[in-house]
Amino acid sequence: MKLMAHEQTVPLSSPDITDAEREAVMAVLKTNRLSIGPRTEAFEALVAARAGRRYGVAVNSGTSGLHLCIRALGITEGDEVITTPFSFIATTNCILFEHARPVFVDIDPETYNADPSAVEAAITPRTKAILPVEVFGNTAHFDRYERIAKEHGLLLIEDSCEALGGILNGRPAGNFGDCSVFAFYPNKQITTGEGGLIVTNDENIRDLCISMRNQGRDTTAWLSHRRMGYNYRMSEIAAALGEVQMHRLDEILAKRRKVAEMYDNALTDLADAGLVHLPPMTERENASWFVYVIRLGDEFDQTDRDTILKRLRENGIGCSNYFAPIHLQPFIMETLKTKPGDFPITEHIAARTIALPFFSNMTGEQVARVRDELDEILHSIGKKTRK
Ligand SMILES: Cc1ncc(COP(=O)(O)O)c(C=O)c1O
Repeated sequence: MKLMAHEQTVPLSSPDITDAEREAVMAVLKTNRLSIGPRTEAFEALVAARAGRRYGVAVNSGTSGLHLCIRALGITEGDEVITTPFSFIATTNCILFEHARPVFVDIDPETYNADPSAVEAAITPRTKAILPVEVFGNTAHFDRYERIAKEHGLLLIEDSCEALGGILNGRPAGNFGDCSVFAFYPNKQITTGEGGLIVTNDENIRDLCISMRNQGRDTTAWLSHRRMGYNYRMSEIAAALGEVQMHRLDEILAKRRKVAEMYDNALTDLADAGLVHLPPMTERENASWFVYVIRLGDEFDQTDRDTILKRLRENGIGCSNYFAPIHLQPFIMETLKTKPGDFPITEHIAARTIALPFFSNMTGEQVARVRDELDEILHSIGKKTRK
């Protein structure tokens, strides 16, 4: 039996894969070169060019890419790295992998990115680097982080895992600081299934990352291991998929901007009524949308938000509480002695965020369906919460 449009599930995300990607992957499978080959090199060159960087190093995840940056920059035990608690856990984990100390700062409520003045205030003699994130694809403040890093002699790693194709004052995401990392999990703007990519202008960082992604090998001799390394290699199959996705990046970003615009229009009434805040996004007309995350009005609390998530899911709408604050994750509280109340802006916002279904081929009917479900749930909950 065919389901009616209003009964169909709307997924939280969905990759945009065409026959061109399928053919590119099949072409690799017809060769005997399934790892370390021409597709990886071509993919690296495309991503590096897009970020305005000289070099690209493909790896098997964004997390691996961040880890290699931390190691390549010599960040180690005793070093402090200033970062944001409003991100995906990998941003903090890559610092902990090397026994360095993540130092969290609160976020700017207007952009959801680390507050630049808080970054500056958190600098101590032990600070070695800043690791901020382009949250949900928003490039805001990266010029300021770069200035702060220069003024204080600090390293800057740009976590661009959510921002491929984004722009800030004419500069692309991935262009700020010493090195930057992109990620290609299937919910990202483009995907390689799993994958990540480091971009940099620094030959030394590039060489170290190439060596460490491949068991610390010398770049010249296969079984000569100059340093400790990992198997963080990307396969040719993944790279071929990524290469075609990169050629389609502008098309994909344009489609995503259109979906974001449909949401902006559909949710205007709810925003005007103060029930929700639309996603903050710098340079909206050039933006690289990763997700579409709304924030509930202040009158709602986390329990309301969780009820809304549950009811949306029951009605076939994919959604998520994006992000849960990193400093409140059990093992982070144990390791870094963080606690509720430490970063009030992050906590206030994180308690009220809802990632709505968002993908490049989302239709106007699907956006309308999400809007209608949300409207109904919000009004029924609003009645109970508003005095
Ligand atoms: C901000 C941020 N950093 C790092 C990562 C890690 O990327 P991956 O999942 O590919 O390891 C992600 C991916 O979800 C992310 O969103």
